[in-house]
Amino acid sequence: MPVSYINEIAKHAGREATVRGWLRHKRGGGKIAFLVVRDGTGDIQAVVSKAVVGDEAFALAGKLTQESSLLLTGTVQADARALGGYELHVSRLEVVQLVADEFPIQPKEHGTGFLMEHRHLWLRSHRQEAVLRIRHEIIRACRNFFDDRGFILADTPIFTPNACEGTTTLFETDYFGEKAYLTQSGQLYNEATAAAFGKVYCFGPTFRAEKSKTRRHLMEFWMVEPEIAFAELADVMALAEEFLAHIVARVLEHRREELKALERDVKKLEAIVPPFPRLTYAEAVAVLQKKGNPIQPGDDFGGDEETILSNEFDRPVIVHRYPAALKAFYMQNDPENPDLALCMDVLAPEGYGEIIGGGQRIHERDKLLARLHAHHLPEDAFKWYLDLRAFGSVPHAGFGMGIERAVAWICGIEHVRETIPFPRMLYKIYP
Ligand code: 4AD
Ligand code: MG
Repeated sequence: MPVSYINEIAKHAGREATVRGWLRHKRGGGKIAFLVVRDGTGDIQAVVSKAVVGDEAFALAGKLTQESSLLLTGTVQADARALGGYELHVSRLEVVQLVADEFPIQPKEHGTGFLMEHRHLWLRSHRQEAVLRIRHEIIRACRNFFDDRGFILADTPIFTPNACEGTTTLFETDYFGEKAYLTQSGQLYNEATAAAFGKVYCFGPTFRAEKSKTRRHLMEFWMVEPEIAFAELADVMALAEEFLAHIVARVLEHRREELKALERDVKKLEAIVPPFPRLTYAEAVAVLQKKGNPIQPGDDFGGDEETILSNEFDRPVIVHRYPAALKAFYMQNDPENPDLALCMDVLAPEGYGEIIGGGQRIHERDKLLARLHAHHLPEDAFKWYLDLRAFGSVPHAGFGMGIERAVAWICGIEHVRETIPFPRMLYKIYP
């Protein structure tokens, strides 16, 4: 009998096929039972009739418990009223495992703490499936975007001897007696590969030992980071804009059903088309002050400020030229005002806040060396990075987007903890 995934069941309409999956729930009794089965690609209702399968198999169907694994063979029948448009009229039922215990996650309200403790099982619920399918679509869209534009994927290391985004959020490890840190960003290595290939990106897990317990922070998150040689701030602002519009369009194209399952207002996503509004840091401060926020020029934006700014516009807003003092050591200065950095943050709308950070890097060796010293960073560990400024150094720029924040925004969900299969959060590492 041909085995079919549920999302391909239409191919077998009118004929027999076998579905392999897990029981979500069942109802009925007497002479007929209805089993709703999921296989990861979709759900289907299977109709088990005593007259067709016989007493023994029918009794077995009656004993099936939530999440029991099974093989169901039967005729695929189109039915406009059915879940997914098809029903399986079962002729043969085979149980792989009859679950003995009550499944911890029941169709009722559970607290988030409980659900997070059972994350390994929670993943099977409709909502989590929808979020993680959208995550996959976003990741695929990121890769396609850069691949189609001639970027080379050059992955960067996870163990690193030096900091990229400040020394306060490093996870330290013992690397055969030497100190090493889990990477905070692939950017510095991207700068080396960009000088080799012109246009590159890296895509991997990054780590921040940030004692932040907010809806936007994870200790381990995935970042996609493009880097381009012979590029300036304006180039990467334009690239980020095109990139975000592309990702949202791909999700709208391929994951409508999942967005619907999440009750996402797709009109808000359909509005994500260039051009995006652009504000300098100074303009953004003025907007915040007008809204009654106590921010003063020179202050960094926190979660509250980002929320206010990102609620101001119906599409992502690019804030550029922050005070250099607020930003990482590698940021190029604005030639028109050296106190400002040629950097940008992209804030997602609807209060989601920063999803992209990036900008132009210092390409002059002496200037970079002075900046390393000013930030008390060890020159030795950055010798290779300084070398890049000695051998054909050119203006270059790039950015990084945190996948989980992008997923939270596109899915319209409150907290990043549901955007990755197994989130790593402050003091929480189980399961
Ligand atoms: O703004 P960040 O720190 O920038 C960098 O790391 C640059 N080196 C990237 C580059 O230019 N190549 O981080 C970039 C993005 C943020 O905008 C955010 O989306 C995400 O990474 N991010 C986090 N996501 C979840 N949890 C955290 N703790 C995050 N910290 C940053
Ligand atoms: Mg940032």
